[in-house]
Amino acid sequence: MIGRRDGALMRNNSSNQSLLKSRIAIAIAIGMFLGCIFAFFFPHGIFSSNSPHFDHNHLTRSISQVVSTSCESSDSLNMLKAEFVAASEKNAELKKQVNVLIEKLRLAEQGKDHAEKQVLVLGEPHKAGPFGTVQGLRTNPTVVPDDSVNPRLANILEKIAVGKELIVALANSNVKDMLEVWFKSIQKVGIPNYLVVALDDEIAKFCESNDVPVYKRDPDKGIDSVGKTGGNHAVSGLKFHILREFLQLGYSVLLSDVDIVYLQNPFHYLYRDSDVESMSDGHNNMTAYGYNDVFDEPAMGWARYAHTMRIWVYNSGFFYIRPTIPSIELLDRVANRLSRGNAWDQAVFNEELFFPSHPGYDGLYASRRTMDFYLFMNSKVLFKTVRKNANLRKIKPVIVHINYHPDKLPRMHAVVEFYVNGKQDALSSFPDGSE
Ligand SMILES: *[C@@H]1O[C@H](CO)[C@@H](O)[C@H](O)[C@H]1NC(C)=O
Repeated sequence: MIGRRDGALMRNNSSNQSLLKSRIAIAIAIGMFLGCIFAFFFPHGIFSSNSPHFDHNHLTRSISQVVSTSCESSDSLNMLKAEFVAASEKNAELKKQVNVLIEKLRLAEQGKDHAEKQVLVLGEPHKAGPFGTVQGLRTNPTVVPDDSVNPRLANILEKIAVGKELIVALANSNVKDMLEVWFKSIQKVGIPNYLVVALDDEIAKFCESNDVPVYKRDPDKGIDSVGKTGGNHAVSGLKFHILREFLQLGYSVLLSDVDIVYLQNPFHYLYRDSDVESMSDGHNNMTAYGYNDVFDEPAMGWARYAHTMRIWVYNSGFFYIRPTIPSIELLDRVANRLSRGNAWDQAVFNEELFFPSHPGYDGLYASRRTMDFYLFMNSKVLFKTVRKNANLRKIKPVIVHINYHPDKLPRMHAVVEFYVNGKQDALSSFPDGSE
């Protein structure tokens, strides 16, 4: 093809020369004409920056806008999320505050009622009212708080206590595993006002690492040696000594052993009308609340029946004590007797609470209230009665105290499984008593 065309050009060389020139002239003319037209219609050129279709700046702006809009929207989404989280936290915080306020209101009303009775009894002397209307004083007035007794503890309590009351437990490393079940149950219920009195450094650290409010006492030789190495009963005796400061600072204390599982907030179930409000070692109405136990002595004939007053002991591992003079006197009397001999603190606690004055002896007149033995349940009630009774199984106790059994930890876990996790057979494998 190329060869042929070349050949044609060569062949027509001379005759086409003029035709070629005129064609070039025409092409130039057309080119100039088109140039003029373009110059007229597009004075700034086809790719002018002003052209709306090819505005690079605009395009870049748009792209960057598109990009930034999606960035901004994820930014604002994150901001919304953060605001939502903050609002939910605020909401939870407010709910907590509402609960605390409701609690305080209830406390205030209970307190007002008690105060009115105090004024009635302790105020101006007056005549007794009509039959059935007179009432003695159970709710003794509280002491004036004395922060100078222990300013450091006063500081801690101010932060932790709700309505001037809190749960207090003493613990050393011997009870670490139980302590963990104890505070986890408290945290799960959402009780804010509790404190561990750490008797050694290991427990203090253990509490700190678990967000458990802890108080390490100032060194005190006599107490510290018992606290560090003491067994169950020895440590139990310490609490009467240590509790005194709490009461002097004006706080009511719900003293708690650590072999206890919390299922509800105990502060919602207190009467607060007595110096001491205690759980019972009793296991039914009679043994827990007291009864007339008739002792039979046939040789006496007509007078063979001797009536005796009986009540199963108060459990000195779980009681609520108000900051009153009789309460502090009780602590002093028990601590004093325990320091003098090898007595069991629970026996001494009960003797001081219940024995009346007699020749050579002035009884303590502290007012007492026995807690509901189904709500503040000991492990005898649970394992001997409640777990075998379909109706009683439905009751949700406030606390369960594994006081009747030596295999405390597994039974505590079982209580959590049964009451918290709803595992119906969690209690089944244990014998009623210890084997
Ligand atoms: C135990 O006492 C409560 C009231 O304190 C009463 O409702 C209940 O019926 C009593 N139970 C028995 C078995 O007597």
